[in-house]
Amino acid sequence: MATKKEIRIGLIGTGFMGRTHSNGYNRVPNFFPDLEYTPVLKAVCSRNAEKVKAFADQWGYESIETDWKVLIARDDIDAVDICTPNDTHAEIAIAAAAAGKMILCEKPLSRTLAEGQQMVDAVEKAGVNTTVWYNYRRIPAVTLAKQIVDSGKLGKIFHYRANFLQDWTISADVPQGGTGTWRMDVEAAGSGVTGDLLAHCIDTAMWINGAIVDVSAVTETFVKERMHQLTGKVEPVGIDDACIFHCHFENGSLGLFESTRYARGHKALYTFEINGENASIRWDLHDLNRLEYFDYADESIVRGWRSIHVTDGDQPYMDKWWVPGLGIGYEHSFIHQVADFFKSLEMGEKPCAPTFKDALETQKVCEAVLDSAASRSWKDTGVAGKIN
Ligand SMILES: NC(=O)c1ccc[n+]([C@@H]2O[C@H](COP(=O)([O-])OP(=O)(O)OC[C@H]3O[C@@H](n4cnc5c(N)ncnc54)[C@H](O)[C@@H]3O)[C@@H](O)[C@H]2O)c1
Repeated sequence: MATKKEIRIGLIGTGFMGRTHSNGYNRVPNFFPDLEYTPVLKAVCSRNAEKVKAFADQWGYESIETDWKVLIARDDIDAVDICTPNDTHAEIAIAAAAAGKMILCEKPLSRTLAEGQQMVDAVEKAGVNTTVWYNYRRIPAVTLAKQIVDSGKLGKIFHYRANFLQDWTISADVPQGGTGTWRMDVEAAGSGVTGDLLAHCIDTAMWINGAIVDVSAVTETFVKERMHQLTGKVEPVGIDDACIFHCHFENGSLGLFESTRYARGHKALYTFEINGENASIRWDLHDLNRLEYFDYADESIVRGWRSIHVTDGDQPYMDKWWVPGLGIGYEHSFIHQVADFFKSLEMGEKPCAPTFKDALETQKVCEAVLDSAASRSWKDTGVAGKIN
């Protein structure tokens, strides 16, 4: 067997995403054995030495660090994987770029557009490879949706509709800031559901249906004050608890997006539906192996919504997994992103989208959405052309 080229990973952050990415690196050699590159779990970093040691043992990292600056300075790290809260992305990424490392960064790219632009400038100056973990693109049914739209089967597209609904912050006792609830603190998160949840919907939407050119939004903060875990004081809440916006896509279709953490009964209901002249498709994260498809060209007596179980070997990524009929899960989208990142290094032509530059387009829409809500007016996003 030919010797694999090693990519020595330095992962920062050992929470939810630290686990999904570590699982991705561990599984890729088993399920994508033809890749030229293979990950080596060189080092993992988090601030608590005892916890990071336990994580390293659990997931197979060779060494630990408690200071990300030390990790970045190491000569034996090729790629830095940023799995920390949003307020750390820019500082870590800019330092990693200056050190010449490849960077895999969690979404949203940044808290603000200005911060994101600095990150793009830094990686372009350094000429390093990047990718941002908008992993939903790599769920086979979502990738198939993109392929169906690209094939022209839907014809002219009229509507794109997406929701991302949760219910975990309804209680006023949920604190803001600190471990576990940094998402509730505008300083750490940058925004609420807009950057956390709608960013995913916007990334998928623009990848499938093209640029969002202008937006009109409303946001609401239902609980205005919460205990801050870091200061111990009750402080004003600066994030958007809910956001609804509508928009125009460059292709002439209309978009409608809603996200909230106050939809009792919904844990992570990410859904989208696209209506075209000839056909429609819809997808639901809670049933992620299925893509629903309606084709007006079907004979009228059997015409109706069909439910495609996206598990066949000729459907995206599924030749790597089990046998037709057997589904895969959320975690596989991260395995696919690791594989696609390595494949892009191997091919050397196209970077693994979305790169930092690609993800900045989503930041532009998020910023326009928040500006629109604050000013109660339509805002242009400045996004145009094809979205990678
Ligand atoms: N792609 C997705 O679907 C998805 C899902 C969840 C979260 N995210 C993103 O991933 C990032 C992390 O979110 P999470 O849910 O894993 O958060 P988390 O709170 O579960 O984990 C964050 C980790 O970062 C560590 N950390 C914080 N500051 C640090 C520092 N200065 N140095 C080293 N380690 C530090 C914490 O100790 C913790 O281990 C966020 O940007 C979030 O938006 C993406």
